[in-house]
Amino acid sequence: MKALVWHGEGDIRLDTVDDPAILDPNDAIVRITRSAICGTDLHFIRGTMSGMKEGTILGHEAVGEVTAVGKAVRRFAPGDRVIVSSTMSCGVCWQCRAGHTAQCDTANPNGPQAGTCFFGGPETTGPVNGLQAEYARIPWASNTLTSIPDNVSDEQAILLSDIFPTSWFGAQLAGIQRGDTVAVYGAGIVGQLAIASAFRQGASRVFAIDGIETRLVQALDQNADVVNFNSEDPVEALMEATAGIGVDAVIDAVGVDAQRPSSGPAAAKAEEQAEQFEQEVSEVAPETNVQGENWVPGNAPSQVSQWSVETVRKYGRIGIIGVYGPTMTSYPIGQAMNKNLTIRMGNCDHRSVTPPLVDLVASGVFDPTRFITQHEPISDVVDAYLNFDRREEGWLKTVLTTD
Ligand SMILES: NC(=O)c1ccc[n+]([C@@H]2O[C@H](COP(=O)([O-])OP(=O)(O)OC[C@H]3O[C@@H](n4cnc5c(N)ncnc54)[C@H](O)[C@@H]3O)[C@@H](O)[C@H]2O)c1
Ligand SMILES: [Zn+2]
Ligand SMILES: [Zn+2]
Repeated sequence: MKALVWHGEGDIRLDTVDDPAILDPNDAIVRITRSAICGTDLHFIRGTMSGMKEGTILGHEAVGEVTAVGKAVRRFAPGDRVIVSSTMSCGVCWQCRAGHTAQCDTANPNGPQAGTCFFGGPETTGPVNGLQAEYARIPWASNTLTSIPDNVSDEQAILLSDIFPTSWFGAQLAGIQRGDTVAVYGAGIVGQLAIASAFRQGASRVFAIDGIETRLVQALDQNADVVNFNSEDPVEALMEATAGIGVDAVIDAVGVDAQRPSSGPAAAKAEEQAEQFEQEVSEVAPETNVQGENWVPGNAPSQVSQWSVETVRKYGRIGIIGVYGPTMTSYPIGQAMNKNLTIRMGNCDHRSVTPPLVDLVASGVFDPTRFITQHEPISDVVDAYLNFDRREEGWLKTVLTTD
């Protein structure tokens, strides 16, 4: 079958590889009908999340049809249409029963302390071959797969594989309450759905901060107040807009590839920290492979952490869903401590977050398809990555088709 394979930083190829097979009674095989490219995938190719193993198939977002199941899989049978959750979980251990399925004690083959097990990630996360392929082996299928109702199309279901649950989870981590004023850093697809989630969880006002105008326009379409960090200082803008108090809650939907302002009043401040940011980049990305405008690591890994702490009110709440690899060590902890902040973070507990969101989509209350901007056949996947990585205008979310 065809699959997108990670060969090194800046080196991904559409290869012909062996079809997957059932290796464990809890496995299923799924024929992928739609997969998607995520901002998380970019970290691995830019090198800002290190530790990938050559030969790993990339991708952790997909929907498809079950073609085979292992003996222990009772909930699914060949022919079933399914959402594949990005993270795997056993459903049996203490963490799973508490709903903390991203920290399942069983799924990660590196042991209970190894943390989240997800498709197409670094060695410490499995590694488990990913979903940007024609077929995939799904470990712990009973818990990792979710049925798609008949009235939900594959197109509507693809954002339920990772993005919508992650963004909803981010709003929950930020403890959104009725009436809250919220800042969402990052207006990529995760930020967009974090805006949607924050409003649906009760926020009355949401600020979206990014440096890409077209993405801010999409945030504006959702009734967010927008701040372009290349023309305004987000700290000044948010403090002014909140009568000097700060926002009640922040969602970080950027992560380690954060960039610093290239123009405007915030650029000079960021420039003063250039040395610190460079040090952070060398820690998080020991290997890089920049090719022209492609695969360039973000030049300010802690920029969003700093802005989050500076713009949230005293006793405010921060939810971090933007991904930071284990080698990222800097965070403005002193400033956060002295404001009595609550900071929660992590990988999405897909299995426990997703089911009610499927109902939101099935009932027509929320249609995620409006956020999908590109459809590409898997044969063009490398080009699609190059465009998305360069943040080409309009490339917010790419769905890959295999039919
Ligand atoms: N926790 C989870 O389970 C989970 C799941 C999916 C994705 N993620 C993470 O969410 C993040 C966003 O994913 P995406 O697909 O939307 O990625 P993306 O790359 O499309 O979007 C990131 C956005 O952040 C913006 N940005 C860069 N620097 C910024 C700054 N200083 N301030 C504000 N905005 C800034 C970029 O312009 C871009 O629009 C990534 O880090 C990804 O790894 C986490
Ligand atoms: Zn993703
Ligand atoms: Zn478990």
